[in-house]
Amino acid sequence: MDDTIGRAEDLPPGSVTAAGSYAVGNSAGEYFAVGRRCRHLGADLAAGSIDADGCLVCPWHGAKYDVRTGRMVRGPQGIFRKIPGLGTAFRASPWCCHSPARASRCATATCT
Ligand code: FES
Repeated sequence: MDDTIGRAEDLPPGSVTAAGSYAVGNSAGEYFAVGRRCRHLGADLAAGSIDADGCLVCPWHGAKYDVRTGRMVRGPQGIFRKIPGLGTAFRASPWCCHSPARASRCATATCT
């Protein structure tokens, strides 16, 4: 069985591409392969980028992965950073996040 996924010269430093269920790339001259789905909401990490630290950055919300370990070293950024916690994103929302039992005590207009 041939395990070849491509030629090294087709994967220059700073590039990422898809190879089956893996995102493969070149981080400062070191080749890597990690699972293709972001652990946040499943974006395709093969469409990500390599940042100045040599980490793989998710194309959707900026989660950052150490390609040597596969570990997420920075969580999602922007309004999605609190998922699954409901802190800031929900407080800034015009929707009420209370259960029907608590909605009657809520000052949010949409609860009434
Ligand atoms: S899907 Fe990757 S950071 Fe949100």
